[in-house]
Amino acid sequence: MIAFLNGDYRPLESVCISPLDRGFMFGDGVYEVIPSYRGVLFEVDAHLDRLRRSLAAIRIADPLTGDAWRKMLERLLSLNPGADRAIYLQVTRGVAARDHAFPQTPSATVFAMVNPIRPPAPELAGRGVGAITLPDQRWGRCDIKTVTLLPNVLARQQAAEQGAVEAILLRQGKVTEGAASNVFVVRDGHVLTPPLSDAILPGITRRVLIDVLRGTRWPCDEQPVSEDELRGADEIWLTSSTKELLPVTSLDGKAVGDGHPGEAWHEALAAYQRVKP
Ligand code: PDD
Repeated sequence: MIAFLNGDYRPLESVCISPLDRGFMFGDGVYEVIPSYRGVLFEVDAHLDRLRRSLAAIRIADPLTGDAWRKMLERLLSLNPGADRAIYLQVTRGVAARDHAFPQTPSATVFAMVNPIRPPAPELAGRGVGAITLPDQRWGRCDIKTVTLLPNVLARQQAAEQGAVEAILLRQGKVTEGAASNVFVVRDGHVLTPPLSDAILPGITRRVLIDVLRGTRWPCDEQPVSEDELRGADEIWLTSSTKELLPVTSLDGKAVGDGHPGEAWHEALAAYQRVKP
C-alpha cells in the first residue's frame, strides 16, 4: 500500500514519523475518513470543509489548498487501485521539542493512507447489530474531529467485549452519538437525530442521510433525543462513512422494536444507496 507523508508517496511500511511528533506526544491533530466507491470519492468537498473547520478550531494553519488536497487524494487512490476504499487523512501540529504550548514555528505533519472500506456485510446489516449505552465522558468540543480518541476507544472496546458493535453515548439524559458514528431513532413514525452542537461530530453521512430522507416518507427532525426515547425507539440507526447506515436491533441486550431492521431503515438505505457513486 502506498501512503502519503509530507509531499511524498511511499510504501506504508517505510513511512516513519518522529516520536516528537505532537500527534504522538499530545494527540495534537485532526483527521478525516473519506470513502470512495469504485475510485470515486464520495462527498469529498464536505470532508475537506470539515477538515478545514477542525484545523481552524485547533489553530493549525491549513497546509494545502483545496485543489492540492483533492489532487493528493486522487493520486493516492490511483496508486492504490481497487474497489471501495476509505482514505484516512491526518494532520498534526508537527515535530517539536516536547512542550504543551505550540512551537514557535510549527510545520504540520500531513499523513494519508488508503484502507479497504468494509461496509457491513449485507447479512449483518440485514440482521442488525447490537449496541450498548455508556455515559459520554468526552470533552466539550466533540464537533472537532481530533485524533485524541481515548474515550471513544475505551467505549468501543467495552462494546466489543459485550459482543456489540457500537457504544451509544448519553450525556445528561440525552443521546449524543456513537463512539464512532451518529445516531438516528425512529419513534411513532418520526425519524429523529440529535441537533448539531459541540457535543457531536457533524457527520457527513448524517447530513447526506437527512438530505435524502426529505424525498421519502420519513423526513428527519433534528431534535434532542432523550434516553427514554432511545430505549423506547421502534428503530435505531448508526451512520458513518465506513458503516454507512446500520440498523441496531438490540440495545443493552434488549430487542429494539420487534428485533429486526425496520421499514424506515429499508427505505432510508435504498435512498442512501441511490446517491452513492
Ligand atoms: N468516524 N461521530 C464520531 C465520533 C465519529 O468518529 C464518526 C466517524 C462519526 C460519523 O461521521 P462521518 O459520517 O462523517 O463518517 C460520528 C470515522 C469513520 C472514524 O473514526 O473512523
